[in-house]
Amino acid sequence: MTNPREQWASSTGFILATIGSAVGIGNIWRFSYVAGENGGGAFLIIYLACVLIVGMPIVIAEMAMGRRGGGDAIAAFSANGRTPRWAHAGWVSVIGCFLILGFYSVIAGWALKYFIGALTGDLWRVASDGYGGFFGDFIANGAEPVAWQFAAIAATMLVVMGGVRRGIEAANRILMPLLALVVIVLAVYASTLSGSAAGWKFLFVPDWAAFGEPQVYIAAVGQTFFSLGIGMAVFITYASYMTPDIKIPRAATAIVAGDTLFAVIAGLAIFPAVFAFGGDPEAGPQLAFITLPQIFLKMPGGTIIGALFFGLLIAAAVTSMVSLLEVPVAAVIHRSRQRRFGAVILVGLGAFVAGTPSALSYGLLDGIRIGEIAILDFVDRLASNYLLPLGGILVCLYIGWFWRRVEAVESAGLATSPVAELWIWAVRLVAPALVLLVVLDSSGAI
Ligand code: PHE
Repeated sequence: MTNPREQWASSTGFILATIGSAVGIGNIWRFSYVAGENGGGAFLIIYLACVLIVGMPIVIAEMAMGRRGGGDAIAAFSANGRTPRWAHAGWVSVIGCFLILGFYSVIAGWALKYFIGALTGDLWRVASDGYGGFFGDFIANGAEPVAWQFAAIAATMLVVMGGVRRGIEAANRILMPLLALVVIVLAVYASTLSGSAAGWKFLFVPDWAAFGEPQVYIAAVGQTFFSLGIGMAVFITYASYMTPDIKIPRAATAIVAGDTLFAVIAGLAIFPAVFAFGGDPEAGPQLAFITLPQIFLKMPGGTIIGALFFGLLIAAAVTSMVSLLEVPVAAVIHRSRQRRFGAVILVGLGAFVAGTPSALSYGLLDGIRIGEIAILDFVDRLASNYLLPLGGILVCLYIGWFWRRVEAVESAGLATSPVAELWIWAVRLVAPALVLLVVLDSSGAI
């Protein structure tokens, strides 16, 4: 590598960019439908436990690796040649990001179409019971979902081309505060609708029976990985650009709290509205694209609220896609003669192509089912329930057992902290064991 490595302009920039990666479609579209399908309140409690016990220690571990690794995901895993076999673990993340970017951009494309439609008014010309058909026709159409997917990836590529500071950090500095504002406005508005209390109840009052269902735990672990974006070397890569003054435990707390709060507030924007208008909270993945537009149409001021909602969704998606693109881009820059521009074109277009089967999975490729589910849903589950957890387990084993304890604790910034012991055992044993248990248990569930 000839160029000096780029760096964040400030610790706030680093924190905003990592929150930007964590907060995405996962917090809005995925959180609401997974919580809806898995019993609302009970899911939330199990999810919070997973975030604390599994999510937080892994975020800290990844950051510690990034700070010490001084390079891309692969360099961080192989400690610049000291543990060469571990380089494979780095590749798991690099390829994982690439795959996730592929299907993620498809959903981002849907959100983009709805956002533009909400602005131009096209989205509001559909009959209120016609959104099932509207959405169904759209995703069944051959070229349209691919075109919107491309637009979403192209926007992401533009940001990443700008580099760490002027692209990624700058975009997050503008978008993240805006996103926080919009989601709060939406939640406050939803709480004024009559009948909205049922939505709050759904999210906060657990249905005790759900605690006995293993599938709720599987969903919670999958959601923890997906929503925080752990196990895919995002924190490793982003932390490798940080200045030495950043305090890892503090940054990790801000990120984990920010991501979780965002999902809950998004839930408070969605479920009260769903209940107020008699929608079905268990609608599944179509909740955001069929149920909600129907509700927006009936709601006073709904067209503005709808535009804000889909704007929120696409902006949150782009800041996450930026991180998914940056991980492989950093690897390509580090490992080849490519400069950033060439690396972005290569990886971005590659991910677009890799994602087109997902874009076509309800259209041209609708006939293809993998274990009864469509390609897009298959890639989503493969990534969330297997790939991300696998990446997370590898991080834990690597730091927990291949680093000396002092190295680990010092790199994590926990040398003088009373929780150092707790963290190291969470990473060595508790987090990987729990995740492994859940992954094995879910192998029948894909
Ligand atoms: N965390 C993002 C979301 O919730 C998705 C993501 C996954 C981002 C993996 C980076 C890595 O939408």
